[in-house]
Amino acid sequence: MSKITIVGAGRVGEAAAQFIAKEELCRELVLIDVRDGAAAGTALDIQESAPLMHFDTKLQGYTDPQAMEGSELVVVTAGLPRKPGMSRSDVLDTNVSILDVIVDDVLKHAADAMLMIVSNPVDVLTYRAWRRTGWDRTRVFGQAGVLDSSRMASFVALETGFSVEDIHAMVLGGHGDSMVPMTRFTTINGISVDHFVDAPTIERIIERTRQGGAEILALKKNSSAYGAPAAAIAAMVSSIRMNRKRVLPTVSILQGEYGQHDIAMGVPAVLGRGGMERIVELVLTEEEQVMFSRSSAAVREDIARLPAQQPVGL
Ligand SMILES: NC(=O)c1ccc[n+]([C@@H]2O[C@H](COP(=O)([O-])OP(=O)(O)OC[C@H]3O[C@@H](n4cnc5c(N)ncnc54)[C@H](O)[C@@H]3O)[C@@H](O)[C@H]2O)c1
Repeated sequence: MSKITIVGAGRVGEAAAQFIAKEELCRELVLIDVRDGAAAGTALDIQESAPLMHFDTKLQGYTDPQAMEGSELVVVTAGLPRKPGMSRSDVLDTNVSILDVIVDDVLKHAADAMLMIVSNPVDVLTYRAWRRTGWDRTRVFGQAGVLDSSRMASFVALETGFSVEDIHAMVLGGHGDSMVPMTRFTTINGISVDHFVDAPTIERIIERTRQGGAEILALKKNSSAYGAPAAAIAAMVSSIRMNRKRVLPTVSILQGEYGQHDIAMGVPAVLGRGGMERIVELVLTEEEQVMFSRSSAAVREDIARLPAQQPVGL
């Protein structure tokens, strides 16, 4: 993968560019933003860190969407972030109209690319992008669960004092208050987390994970989270770029898996050169199934609010 484009050179886009460049996940990294000079300035700033951070990735920033031409992956981080007190769904209308324009640009200039959606509400926007492109679902997916799982793993580390190195957490479902933290797959070097912490502590970890984005937003007030979201983007890009085939929670289009059709939700998926190569279907417990269904209902509610469109590529 020699060229990646990030559309939206705001906080998340900038931080993602830093990680992607630092890890040399592509030769050419393009940033695009509608704000005049924003992408160019950001690209130059990161480029000037290259001698210190030791990377050879070349960065360029533009306002012209044509600059995405030849990209193998387009990451969409453009859109309104929420403000304190707002839910991710509150930014739906604005972000759908921004996304539609970007998807049309991708269809025009980078029709062979893969599309990773990050802008919120990410499940609904991933669904929208998939419908609008008409592409195979392997090429259109979103980031949410890698971040939520990293948050959960961080809270497990804070509660136990153990190294994050050994902690694995898994959060599925929609990226919202109805996300589904999968406690039985949360382990410390293979040992279930409930071996180390009691039920009230697990509940506290789950609740903090659900409110992870809101907690940061409430503290910072004028910015939502971007460091961990950017690291999550880089982890997914790395798995695709290096064909590592990591099993990562990925906002994926479900076509019968988990009893769901025609919806985008976070499920474990294999990420490799072919994009979202395969969904891993788990047998859910009754309790998990209830949470998953509640989560899918919340995503469907937002999908029902989407303005009508003629799917361009279908
Ligand atoms: N999925 C996740 O886990 C996750 C995590 C954090 C943030 N987000 C979402 O990512 C998005 C960006 O967050 P942020 O904090 O970087 O916001 P930000 O305001 O810092 O940046 C958004 C950028 O998008 C640009 N933009 C707007 N319309 C555009 C267009 N048509 N083309 C190109 N650029 C355009 C803006 O000029 C701005 O620079 C938000 O929707 C936020 O909710 C998602």
